[in-house]
Amino acid sequence: MSVSGLVDPDTITATNALGNSITINFIKEGGERLLLGSGGQANVFKASHSLGKNISVKRLIIKTPTEINQWARSVECSYFLSSIFTRPDPNFLCFYGVIVHPLIMENFVRKIKEVTENVIFTSNIMNEHIVYMLYEFIDGRELDDIINESPEDINYRRYGSELLNALVKLRSVPTRIAKSDGSISDGFAPMVHLDIKPSNIMIETATGTLKIIDLNTVCIAYNIDGNNGCDRSAFTLEYLAPEGVPTYFPELFKKGSFKNKRTMLMASDMFATGVTLYKMIMKKAAINPKRDIVPYNAMGWENFWKKRISVTKEAGQEVIELKELELKFTPDKEKWASLIQDMVKLDYRQRPTAKEALDRFNEILAWEEGPGSVALPVNQGGGKKRRKTVRKNRQTKSRRRNRIH
Ligand SMILES: Nc1ncnc2c1ncn2[C@@H]1O[C@H](COP(=O)(O)OP(=O)(O)OP(=O)(O)O)[C@@H](O)[C@H]1O
Ligand SMILES: [Mg+2]
Repeated sequence: MSVSGLVDPDTITATNALGNSITINFIKEGGERLLLGSGGQANVFKASHSLGKNISVKRLIIKTPTEINQWARSVECSYFLSSIFTRPDPNFLCFYGVIVHPLIMENFVRKIKEVTENVIFTSNIMNEHIVYMLYEFIDGRELDDIINESPEDINYRRYGSELLNALVKLRSVPTRIAKSDGSISDGFAPMVHLDIKPSNIMIETATGTLKIIDLNTVCIAYNIDGNNGCDRSAFTLEYLAPEGVPTYFPELFKKGSFKNKRTMLMASDMFATGVTLYKMIMKKAAINPKRDIVPYNAMGWENFWKKRISVTKEAGQEVIELKELELKFTPDKEKWASLIQDMVKLDYRQRPTAKEALDRFNEILAWEEGPGSVALPVNQGGGKKRRKTVRKNRQTKSRRRNRIH
């Protein structure tokens, strides 16, 4: 098979620095490679692996050094987050390694030797512009497809809790960190995904486990030695909060007020998760790409948010008013409104952390099962707890309009 003239064989044997060899073999149907999906950046195929398992293979066609760097960075994060070399995490796609041509191997070399030695497999028959990222094959469905095709199958209580729990784990990944003096230390790295959305979440059929996929944008949320930090690379407009392009909103993100990039990146994940949760629970989009972002490009996105930010002067002082997104909930789902509205706040500093969101989500679940259940009489302790956990979902106009001085 060839891609735009590039030689791209269907069977590849490749070896890592430790001398371990693997063979992958693309599975074919009707003479064509079995395509599991394709997104903005790549094609994903099904293949067999010499370990005896079926795997998924993401084919990237690399054009620029920046692209190579991004993928290389995600290799290191995937290694520690969920891989066969460290420990697979059930909620994150498990990483099996990367196959490249020896000529571009240098770009993938990491400061942490064990990463380089384990995950980078080279093969001379590879084309030097193609990179194959190898992951577990998930026998399941995309969350987005389930919502669109059979919304009654969405167990949003379970998936919501699993998604937020996955985010909590992502914030503290057991990692090895290369210091500038050459030493390596063990620690925990706060990672961000940056492209959370229902089409990047799969539900495994056999176990019902939620799995976050598309790990190419995963990065450590600050600059540490040996890791080049994060720069945004995935833009799915209806999941992107205003701080995604801070320069568009100088009023909101004044120079100097934008110090904590790490908090900002994490809060952006939180926004995308809030929008995802909304879709899971309400079975419809919080921000409708066709209706709300017109035209569906950077300009349409900027206009959508600009309408919600106004600046006035009061007694010589600048007052910024934010008109928050007001998501609609049916009466039976109102209990989720307060949490989700907080997750999608315009000002990233006001969104909950992953841990706070998980605790609040579970609190609502506990209330549903206990005092919130209609089956349980109020005199069995329901009244007291109810007051504690039920939040006022519809905010007053003045609370909705969030003022920043
Ligand atoms: N491990 C896997 N097992 C089964 N199917 C998969 C797997 N990985 C990806 N897919 C399918 O392929 C699709 C595209 O994969 P992925 O999201 O990783 O690519 P992408 O090009 O980065 O997508 P986008 O940029 O649109 O988010 C997924 O939405 C999913 O349907
Ligand atoms: Mg995707």
